[in-house]
Amino acid sequence: MDKQIPTILIVDDDESMRDTLDAILKKDFNVLKVSDGRSAIDTIKKKDVDIVLLDIRLPDINGMDILQQIKENNEDVDVIMITAVKEIDTAVHAIKMGAYDYITKEFDYDDVIARINRLIESQNKKRELLYFKSEMERYIDVGFIIGNSKKMRDVYNFVQKAARVPATILIRGETGTGKELLARVIRQESGLVNEPFVTVNLTAIPQELVESILFGHERGAFTGAIKQHFGKFELANGGFIFLDEIGDLKYDLQAKLLRVLQEGEIERVGGSKKIKVDVRIIAATNVDIEKKMKDGQFREDLYYRLNVIPIVLPPLRERLEDLPMLIDFFLKKYNKRFKKNLTRISEEALDMLMNYHWPGNIRELENLIERLVVMGEGEEILKEDIPLEFHLSILDRKVPSISQSSILDVALESFERNYILKTLEKVKWKRKAAAEVLGIPISTLKYKLDRLNLYDVIRIKESA
Ligand SMILES: Nc1ncnc2c1ncn2[C@@H]1O[C@H](COP(=O)(O)OP(=O)(O)OP(=O)(O)O)[C@@H](O)[C@H]1O
Ligand SMILES: [Mg+2]
Repeated sequence: MDKQIPTILIVDDDESMRDTLDAILKKDFNVLKVSDGRSAIDTIKKKDVDIVLLDIRLPDINGMDILQQIKENNEDVDVIMITAVKEIDTAVHAIKMGAYDYITKEFDYDDVIARINRLIESQNKKRELLYFKSEMERYIDVGFIIGNSKKMRDVYNFVQKAARVPATILIRGETGTGKELLARVIRQESGLVNEPFVTVNLTAIPQELVESILFGHERGAFTGAIKQHFGKFELANGGFIFLDEIGDLKYDLQAKLLRVLQEGEIERVGGSKKIKVDVRIIAATNVDIEKKMKDGQFREDLYYRLNVIPIVLPPLRERLEDLPMLIDFFLKKYNKRFKKNLTRISEEALDMLMNYHWPGNIRELENLIERLVVMGEGEEILKEDIPLEFHLSILDRKVPSISQSSILDVALESFERNYILKTLEKVKWKRKAAAEVLGIPISTLKYKLDRLNLYDVIRIKESA
């Protein structure tokens, strides 16, 4: 059964009515037929029904009671009542109770088709809206900088090909290397731009809710499940689901996910029917999955299912030649946002950033540039604008051969220099005020400024 074709359930005890409707509808829809209320409810539980054509008069359960049950338990099923002309009042009442529409037993073929098509359109809109609501804030343009490094050009060339293949993609890379952004690029490149892109961060959800969030749940499936809920997989139907931090998925859920990947069907928590989903999966992780497999924490079979198309994003320290381009991109972004005009970076400052090891990768770079733009007054980023931790971290790396005590001296000096600079900045470069804040005599401060070569900086700042 193709999920793109809606399924209609005809519930009528009159056989000729069932056959007539079936004959009109089966060309465009999956049609199911039952003759009484109990089988209707049973079918809705077991099959992925979109629309019910429901006779008001049935031998066992009243059509109105069935309607009520459907409305309480099946958010995604709509009902069109079938009524005799003399029962129009009841039909109107049914609509008040949540039926979408009604047709009379003396219906006109084209009219029935038109009403059903209108309903399907409205269901699609509802789904879209639901998806939009959860993902709205993520609807920002993908601003992905590739850079000139060979590593990133290789990634991009590969992605362009991979995006067109409907196979599962696993993106690996350290934190902040752009895994999530790349997933959005993949959607863009796939041509499925108007289809959903649903993100699930598996570490951000309490473990006990992961299953219901991924696969949905039926009303009453667990304490607190007061309403039926669509899972992310259903919301992503026709598009992409991005499973972030997949390496942290709990072991028993790994088996469930594997089954979904193998069968292309999900089952809501507390439900008994299988629902076909057509979803492309992009998973990402920054943990060492191979190690997790060795330790028995990650299923090997799931790993191979996910890793059909592997993509590895290099850490920033391995593509430092892209740094200028990235800095330029973030400068533009934040100048615009904060209405500033910080457009350049001095050679010394860039040099310092080129020597940094970037544990937080591009995220860390972006945060730094944002901070510099917010604080910045002039047009150029200078070495002394770069925060203390960058200076210290570079010292660590640059002086591995000198003795411990002299490393400490250099570190202390760098700390002192930066601390004094920050204090001076706070008091608008007034030396007297800085000495007071620091709790030292002005003569001591002057001595330190001289020893630490800070007078040049102050002169520049004062003249700015
Ligand atoms: N190539 C890029 N061009 C522009 N911005 C980027 C790029 N890569 C990452 N960023 C920015 O860096 C930040 C982190 O990116 P993202 O969230 O995609 O990283 P991640 O690899 O998913 O990290 P984590 O493992 O911590 O979740 C985001 O603000 C993103 O906009
Ligand atoms: Mg991420």
